[in-house]
Amino acid sequence: MQIVKTVADFKTLRAEWDRQRLTISLVPTMGALHAGHLSLLGPARKADRLVVSIFVNPAQFGPQEDLQRYPRPLERDLSLLEAQGVDTVFLPSATEIYPEGYRTFVTVEGMSSELCGASRPGHFRGVATVVLKLIHIVRPHWAVFGQKDAQQTIILRRMVRDLNLDVDLLVQPIVREVDGLALSSRNQYLSGEERKAATILFRSLELARQAWLRGERESAVLLRGVRELIDSESLARLDYAAIVSVEDLRPLAEVSADALLALAVFVGSTRLIDNVFLPQPLPRAGSESGSPCHEE
Ligand code: PAF
Repeated sequence: MQIVKTVADFKTLRAEWDRQRLTISLVPTMGALHAGHLSLLGPARKADRLVVSIFVNPAQFGPQEDLQRYPRPLERDLSLLEAQGVDTVFLPSATEIYPEGYRTFVTVEGMSSELCGASRPGHFRGVATVVLKLIHIVRPHWAVFGQKDAQQTIILRRMVRDLNLDVDLLVQPIVREVDGLALSSRNQYLSGEERKAATILFRSLELARQAWLRGERESAVLLRGVRELIDSESLARLDYAAIVSVEDLRPLAEVSADALLALAVFVGSTRLIDNVFLPQPLPRAGSESGSPCHEE
């Protein structure tokens, strides 16, 4: 497995891959890898060369956030990736990505300051900027992201469309612990008690999904159930719960189109996110419209 630390070295390698007419996949990560990240490697393997980037992107952390304490188990991450047959790890430093005098940022407007963006101002500007840079440096045919960061994937899809980027985004389902907790690098901040309490995210999504399966379509009713369940857990504090369009994150009063139920919850001082699709039912045989179901 090759480790490339500079943009210049990556471009040299990439030019060689061009000469060989190879296809490339990119899995962008911030390291602290878990089974959720490793699941992203599956679809990425269809390329001739599989690149994983590890970069804890300072631009997506707010001043009060956990940039300094974000876990960086580099040796462990590299052995995991090597064991998974990854070809190349792109491991730039912060100054390699944002050299002295850096001033250019990308904002996907109207989608970046809602939901997670409301409590993390500037976060999605940082995500969009670094992902755009990685796409320019690595020039992948496919880039793979996890559905756990649903707002991120919807924003990045918009950016790829708006900027006519030549890359296909692939989105992989959420990987969960047996009790439903979505895997996250931040789960390791949780104490034993908090870890138990953290299942409240999955349980509240499941409660809403069951109500939706029984035919409830009013967002306010579905969200009330979510709020009440989260309020019943003393270690949890709801940041937001929302039902939005999967196309553009517009809030939906009725779940009449493909919808995403997304939430963020503080468990102790750790902020966790999770989500579930509430897809439009498949059209009955003979009917003319309808959109495909999403699978989780
Ligand atoms: O999802 C993440 O880990 C990060 O937001 C990403 C896409 C690697 C950009 O820093």
